[in-house]
Amino acid sequence: MNSHQRPSMTRRQFVTSSAAALAAGGFIRNAHASDKISPALQQTARGPFRVIIDTDPGVDDALALLLAMRSPELKIEAITPVAGNVPLEWTLPNALRMVEIAGRTDIPVAAGAKSPLLRRLVTATYAHGENGLGGAVFPEPKTKPVNQPAAEMIRQIVRKFPGEVTLLPIGPLTNIATALNLDSELAGLIRGVVMMGGSLSGGNITPAAEFNIYVDPEAARIVFQSGIPITMVGLDVTRKTSLTEDHLRELQAGQNPVSQAAATIARNAIQHNRERGFVVGPNMHDSLAIAGFIDPSLLMLKEYYVDVETTGELTAGETLGYSPSAGDLQRRPGTEKDTSAMNMSIRGSAPTLAGTRTSPVVRDKFIPNAKVAVDVDSARFFNLLIGRLSGKQ
Ligand code: BDR
Ligand code: CA
Repeated sequence: MNSHQRPSMTRRQFVTSSAAALAAGGFIRNAHASDKISPALQQTARGPFRVIIDTDPGVDDALALLLAMRSPELKIEAITPVAGNVPLEWTLPNALRMVEIAGRTDIPVAAGAKSPLLRRLVTATYAHGENGLGGAVFPEPKTKPVNQPAAEMIRQIVRKFPGEVTLLPIGPLTNIATALNLDSELAGLIRGVVMMGGSLSGGNITPAAEFNIYVDPEAARIVFQSGIPITMVGLDVTRKTSLTEDHLRELQAGQNPVSQAAATIARNAIQHNRERGFVVGPNMHDSLAIAGFIDPSLLMLKEYYVDVETTGELTAGETLGYSPSAGDLQRRPGTEKDTSAMNMSIRGSAPTLAGTRTSPVVRDKFIPNAKVAVDVDSARFFNLLIGRLSGKQ
């Protein structure tokens, strides 16, 4: 039985084996020895790793940035804000506020795109408030962004450390796609992308699309088709990361500026959510992507070929995950006895009468382009997040 044929673990089996594997020194290497792990994730035992965090703060972005800046496994080469949850006029100063709160003004912050590649910006102020921090107010930052656009900064850092830099995008992928468009060799020099984005189980802004991919689906498609090893931490797992009042109390008890700032953001965000009728949340989507890079044993990963819907009238931004084990790939006539996943083709929509008569086969072999997180040990994730923010670990 190969890794594609192996039945998925149940959640109970995952949590049980996760705890056991943690005791043994790492869930994925032990419990999934035959699964291929992306290079970015294989390395996390050694660290620190050069990373660039591309972000649209954003309540969960803000906490993710604070987590990252308190994590010795990460050597943060730059933070590159992008328009997303709120316009760049907010995401840029919010990112600068976070580096000041964390005492990490040594990290360069470079202003990114004000709008998606080909679309008008759609924001998520309904979830993050007009200021992106759920209404939590912090002083104007004194720190200035560097005098270089985000995409150029990404390009230069990757060129300076070829094969060493992992990109951690937790917002729309506009800056990353722009950097790839600037330099045709760049993708081959990037160690990996570990992103918060996408979903194989329905969206959160439309029934089809997750917010980050919805905002700039053309950029997302460029990234997924770039050949960079991708780990997709999407709604399939981030929906299981609801911040609670207990977490808030732990943050409030933390005697350091990061914990106090995180508590202020969390309190405002919880209140903002409750006022809008949400009985749980907000989810810590972005922190999970960062945490999954720091400690891959938090996530169960499965290989997929992921593509992004860009032309759908209702579905643009949907991420489609092709996987032979899901039985969703067609076999070519005559290959029924061939159990090799690599021989299975990937199909798009059938051609219309008005359009081309070419085959709907868009890839004639199944070659995965992403590891998709399909389960998470939420309790251990929150131990890491709250522990690091509050200063307990
Ligand atoms: C993603 O969208 C944003 O609202 C969050 O910051 C997160 O990156 C979740 O869909
Ligand atoms: Ca975000």
